[in-house]
Order: sequence, then C-alpha cells, then structure tokens
Amino acid sequence: MKFFIDTANVDEIKQAASIGVLDGVTTNPTLVARENRKFEDLIKEICGIVDGPISAEVISLEYDGMVKEAKKLAQIHKNITIKLPMTLEGLKACRTLTDADIMTNMTLVFSPSQALLAAKAGATFVSPFVGRLDDISTSGMDLIDQIVTIYENYGYTSEVLVASVRHPLHVVEAAMMGADVVTMPFKVIEKLVKHPLTDKGIDSFLKDWKKVKDLK
Ligand code: E4P
Repeated sequence: MKFFIDTANVDEIKQAASIGVLDGVTTNPTLVARENRKFEDLIKEICGIVDGPISAEVISLEYDGMVKEAKKLAQIHKNITIKLPMTLEGLKACRTLTDADIMTNMTLVFSPSQALLAAKAGATFVSPFVGRLDDISTSGMDLIDQIVTIYENYGYTSEVLVASVRHPLHVVEAAMMGADVVTMPFKVIEKLVKHPLTDKGIDSFLKDWKKVKDLK
C-alpha cells in the first residue's frame, strides 16, 4: 500500500519523508492557497523532496484549458500527476493526457459510476473523498469497497487513491479493502504510530532499566 501526504506544506512533507514511508504527495487549490507561494515554485520544491507522484490540480473547467495547464505543469518534473475534476471535460482531458503518457488523478470522486468512468478514461489514480461523504452521513468506506470490487472485476489498472482521510481507521479499513494508496494529512500519519500501550511499555521499560543501571 502506498502512503501519500495530503498537503502543500514543505515542512510537513520533509518531516513525513524523513520517516521513510512516504510514496507521494497530493495537493489541491485549498492546500496550495494556505502556503502563500507561487504555485509552480512550490510544486517544483516538493518534487525535489519526494521521489514519487506529486499531484498538482488544474483550475480550468474546459478541456482545452485543462490540457494546456496540464502540459505546462507536466514540464516541471517527470513525477507531476495532473489532478482533474470528475466532469465530462475532466474525463476527456484524462484520456488525452493518458495517451500523452502524463500521469493523471481524477479528483472529487463520490460515486462508483464516476470511478468506473475514470478507469475507462485511463486515469492513473482515482480519488474518492471518504471524509466528505462521512460528513453527509454516507459511508465513504463503502464507496472504497465498491470501487475496489469493480476494478478487480474488470482488471482496471487505475489505482484507488483514498482521499479526504480524517483518522487512522480510514487508513486501516482502506488497507483491509485492498485500496492501492491512501493520502492523508500529516496529523493522521502521526496518529497511525500512536498506541497508549506502546507509551506505557516504553515508560515502564525505562523505569526498570534505571534500576539495572543503579546496580553497582
Ligand atoms: C485529495 O487529494 C484532497 O486533496 C483531499 O484529500 C481533500 O481532503 P478534505 O476533504 O479533508 O479537504
């Protein structure tokens, strides 16, 4: 399973990369806006930190504009993955970019039918937003289960990229379902490692070791 970090913050990306479990980065316009930096410069710097797919999202809503933006972004680095909105225009752009050997990530996916179309358009990654579905009392993880089944049924090669992840349970359930990738905020990566019994165990081992050390 691949772990991506869902942020445009360079410090967070460096911290996550230093752990040694990071496979890629996803950004979106909201995350980029928080950094107050020129988009291309920021993306270029991120590409220098992580050697894996780096998602950069287009802003245009029409096919021509999307493809133009995508081709410019793709020139920044070989790992750039173009994030396209899940619309008919986005699907058209996805097919064009796939045929041009440019990696794509269909974003804002909220239904199995959208995911099916994204796979047929040749998307490299398909991003169902689980947290935002949970927010409206619909199970985000049920959607992941459906998409994984559909892709397995037909052998689609698009990777299921679980997005809008809010807590470690999303990550564990995604792993149980066989999702290919999870993208998560840095705070979720930190939470994945935590267990109160680990902390308690370390504490008691250190206390006991002090007794050994104090022996003459
Ligand atoms: C995915 O690529 C998106 O950037 C992200 O996961 C959206 O998450 P949010 O619903 O927490 O904004």
